[in-house]
Amino acid sequence: MTAAYSETVQQHIAARTGMPRELYTSPELYEAELAAVFQRSWLYAGHVSEIARPGQYLTVASGDESVIVARGNDETISAFYNVCRHRGARLVDEGCGSARRFVCPYHQWTYRLDGSLLGAPRMGKDFDPAEHPLPTVAVEVWQGLVFVNLAADPGPGVGALFADGEAVVAPFALAEARVAHTEDYLVAANWKLVWENAQECYHCMANHPEFLKAFDLASINEPDWRECDVQRSDDRRVQYAKLPLRSDAVSLTVDGRPAVAKLLGEFAAGREPYTVAIHLKPTVAVVCSPDYAIILTDSPDGLGSTKVRVSWLVHPSAEAGTDYDVDNLIKVWDQTNRQDWKLCERAQLGVRSQSYVPGPLAADEASVLDFYRAYAQLLADAGL
Ligand code: FES
Ligand SMILES: [Fe+2]
Repeated sequence: MTAAYSETVQQHIAARTGMPRELYTSPELYEAELAAVFQRSWLYAGHVSEIARPGQYLTVASGDESVIVARGNDETISAFYNVCRHRGARLVDEGCGSARRFVCPYHQWTYRLDGSLLGAPRMGKDFDPAEHPLPTVAVEVWQGLVFVNLAADPGPGVGALFADGEAVVAPFALAEARVAHTEDYLVAANWKLVWENAQECYHCMANHPEFLKAFDLASINEPDWRECDVQRSDDRRVQYAKLPLRSDAVSLTVDGRPAVAKLLGEFAAGREPYTVAIHLKPTVAVVCSPDYAIILTDSPDGLGSTKVRVSWLVHPSAEAGTDYDVDNLIKVWDQTNRQDWKLCERAQLGVRSQSYVPGPLAADEASVLDFYRAYAQLLADAGL
């Protein structure tokens, strides 16, 4: 394996160009990224409201891995591999549900909500269930968002990574919110193309009419994002940006008006509205407006395929049909996302060509370099 993918990325950062073809087309690099990047990154699993009661669980997948996140009878949230300790069967199907315990469908080994083995049929008196728990996975809840990390030593926790900008997010009281809608997308593009697209708005004018009804492109399309109040943690994976809205807009919606009658957290009490985006590259992006938030997760699903899940959070007592209309709530991001996926898929088709040589980035794309820096850091940390 080439030992210098991170150096290649650094060279392209220095030259301020896109990344070369091999970074999108190498199966070897893709496999290395799964192991070295995604299995060492914090993955968004779900919102606490989705596992509010003992016995409620959800699963989160990354590459070949699947993890169960469950709330126990003592309210503790545990995470463990969704792989039976007997002969490896997938314990529960992907998704969410409620269970008193997890019974493997194959031979009925039975696990508690914390992943410990309760019992196994006819294994004899020398068999000790305590010796066969499901392997645990690091789990952390930050602002009501549940994250897992497959690394044995995950390094800094989510709270530590996000600490710099916590005060910007806290007023939205995301921990008290609930999930109003979730949408899954499959994008026929390498995961890095999806992130690159999310970093820049050079493409917005020609492609995102709904988004630009509230978003103030003139402010964001400055060569230096600091002019629109970006804060950065020292860790390149983390990025905060207050998003500029048009002067008459209070929320990032198709008409700039709140899509939900009940505002989140402190905004219900009259706090000055703002919209903020937070990235934890390469797995999750959060965008909060006063009335709703979205959590967007990217997970690779092959060299040229990316699964994206978007969840919309609203005030816990906001009711569909009364306080908001689901179609109106999701419209701006659903349409913008679908427009973006088409662009990513178009880029995927092109970067695979032997003719592709990365061109210079526009000043408006300076933030793409931030993604490259984060990516180079992830590769270098993994010795790639
Ligand atoms: S594989 Fe699960 S009980 Fe046999
Ligand atoms: Fe876009």
